[in-house]
Amino acid sequence: GIVRKSTNLICTISDDRGEEVLYAGKPLSRVLEDGMGIGGVIGLLWFKKEIPPWAAEFIELVLQIVADHGPAVSAAHNAIVASCAGKDLITSLASGLLTIGPRFGGAIDDAAREFKRARDSGLSPEEFVRGMKAKGVNIPGIGHRIKSVKNPDKRVELLIGYARENFARTDLLDYALSVQEITTAKKGNLILNVDGCIGILFIDLMGSCEVFDEREIDEVIRYGYLNGLFALGRSIGIIGHILDQKRLDSRLYRHPQDDIAYMLPKLG
Ligand code: ACO
Ligand code: LMR
Repeated sequence: GIVRKSTNLICTISDDRGEEVLYAGKPLSRVLEDGMGIGGVIGLLWFKKEIPPWAAEFIELVLQIVADHGPAVSAAHNAIVASCAGKDLITSLASGLLTIGPRFGGAIDDAAREFKRARDSGLSPEEFVRGMKAKGVNIPGIGHRIKSVKNPDKRVELLIGYARENFARTDLLDYALSVQEITTAKKGNLILNVDGCIGILFIDLMGSCEVFDEREIDEVIRYGYLNGLFALGRSIGIIGHILDQKRLDSRLYRHPQDDIAYMLPKLG
């Protein structure tokens, strides 16, 4: 009989061997004919599923909402500095993306995990906040440098508005909003931030969607799918900032010395 050569690699998401590429088994031309859009393509390539249009639209909303937040934030600033140092687009983009992490843009998976774990283990919002404080851990998805109760984050309002209108369930959101009530009573800027809101709503989206089961929700959190949404969306803005600096023919950036507190030890 035929002896199959064992392979060194397995791929389960796409296939480029035929006349046209397949995304999760679906020919690219059908993806386009069906108007699946970026949200639908993410459904195919990240989840290997055809997700319903309201779920694909939510993903596209997230990508648009996180696309940029001005030049001062970590990713844009790093990319601008790299671009001003004469680095090319890809290198500058990478330097911006590398700032995405637990404090900035990369708290989405942690927020999804921590809020879901707290809710599923029956902790009241008060017990959750107290427990995190006792551990000395900032609650992922809570807190913002400039947004606060007095200066609300419109992006969070837009995401919540969409979910309330389109999701069958928003119970983790309700739990997170109860947590926010407690944290903002302590300090006005301890709001549910855009990372937290995306993470929590993604769990509610999966819970509202018959194509996903509990095992897949756990997988999303375990493998950290959701920070990918921020990296993908914010790349749009980062690239914009890099091109902006190139067009402006910006000079090398050097941070002003009068904005640095030099606090050296007095040795020798
Ligand atoms: N949970 C509980 N307490 C918090 C949190 C939190 N998430 N964030 C800040 N605090 C408390 C701090 O313990 C501190 O308390 P203290 O004054 O009693 O010492 C006080 O608030 C101020 O803390 P700072 O670290 O100075 O706050 P800062 O404004 O610099 O931090 C940040 C902002 C990094 C977003 C912070 O709130 C945080 O770590 N949040 C969790 C991570 C997160 O969600 N990041 C995503 C932000 S949105 C985005 O990047 C797109
Ligand atoms: C962002 O989207 O970059 C932020 O919410 C962080 C910030 O400080 O604005």
